[in-house]
Amino acid sequence: MSEARQSRPIGLLAELTHRCPLGCPYCSNPLVLDGRDSELDTESWKRVFSQAAAIGILHIHLSGGEPAARRDLGDLVAHCARLGLYSNLITSGIGITQAMVTQLADAGLDHVQLSIQDAEPQSADHIAGYRGAFARKSQVASMITQAGLPLTVNAVIHRVNVRRAGAMVELAIALGARRVEIAHAQYYGWAAQNRALLMPSREEAEAAIAEVERLKAVHAGRIMIDHVAPDYHARYPKPCMSGWARRTMNVTPSGKVLPCHAAEVIPGLEFWNVLDHSLEEIWRDSPAFNAFRGEAWMREPCRSCDRRTVDFGGCRCQAFMLTGNASEADPVCHLSPHHEIVSGILEEAMRNEKGPVEYSYRRLRPARSPDQQESPKVPAA
Ligand code: SF4
Ligand code: FES
Repeated sequence: MSEARQSRPIGLLAELTHRCPLGCPYCSNPLVLDGRDSELDTESWKRVFSQAAAIGILHIHLSGGEPAARRDLGDLVAHCARLGLYSNLITSGIGITQAMVTQLADAGLDHVQLSIQDAEPQSADHIAGYRGAFARKSQVASMITQAGLPLTVNAVIHRVNVRRAGAMVELAIALGARRVEIAHAQYYGWAAQNRALLMPSREEAEAAIAEVERLKAVHAGRIMIDHVAPDYHARYPKPCMSGWARRTMNVTPSGKVLPCHAAEVIPGLEFWNVLDHSLEEIWRDSPAFNAFRGEAWMREPCRSCDRRTVDFGGCRCQAFMLTGNASEADPVCHLSPHHEIVSGILEEAMRNEKGPVEYSYRRLRPARSPDQQESPKVPAA
């Protein structure tokens, strides 16, 4: 049986748009973003979701950018519900109104993930690059829970907010979340661009991990705490995407289908588009999906390592970004011959001066409205 037939996709990340009012410097979207004119239309997205259901996909993650920027969001959620697909909205909350929450709940939305940037309002607005974001998110969280929708709060941890990881768990509880995901920044897209400003020291990261683990015990039964540890500080790499082209598909706003959100950084991969091929064809035959499927591409030390079926050699995109070759072991692994690259980055983070933080904000085009101008700078925590 072919590798494509052995593994079936269970989740699809639908990047409905790259438009977003926020400018988070850790965004994993690519540096070159799709403009509104290139976005798939409503009927194309519905066809994608119908094809997803037909090949056994269970979960649709409606993401972006900010998916609420799409006027057809309610229509797309209703289509997922008719197909029996579990729909999960991943939102910044900005642009979400009470009427929209009611419409989405009525359309059959199953779950909402709302991002927060920090537990301290001024810092949160600075990280988001948007004045008033913190206050608005609190209002939107209340709308979501009052509509009876299950809420997960997503918080990305990095150098400026790392000392408030525990406070962000407490904030998620106050916002009425049933689950909170505390995820240390991963360095793709805009996060790779801002890495020197985002990377905490090992001591800071370890203190944050210990605090969140302590809170897991304190709040057991009250809120589920999912914890994504910082991979640069780990001994072994993460099993990125549960293995290349094994479980998930990622559709960009313009319809390109990727095995992971960052795959476009790897040169030479050929991505097929939903406008030209069905999802089933793409899953089975597209060159990008088959490039790192299975184990044939692996080099030593992964090729003969017992953990190759556990972590799949780590992340292909990170291997390429750090070594220039996507077939290498992820250099996060202490067995990688390139592990000193990661050690060097961590040592550099230790030496970084703490001072005003001037991010390279994620923008589709230069900010135009007062709300989208840079907020006052805040000192690093
Ligand atoms: Fe994973 Fe490869 Fe490291 Fe083994 S050598 S632990 S398979 S990254
Ligand atoms: Fe692409 Fe990890 S982000 S394989």
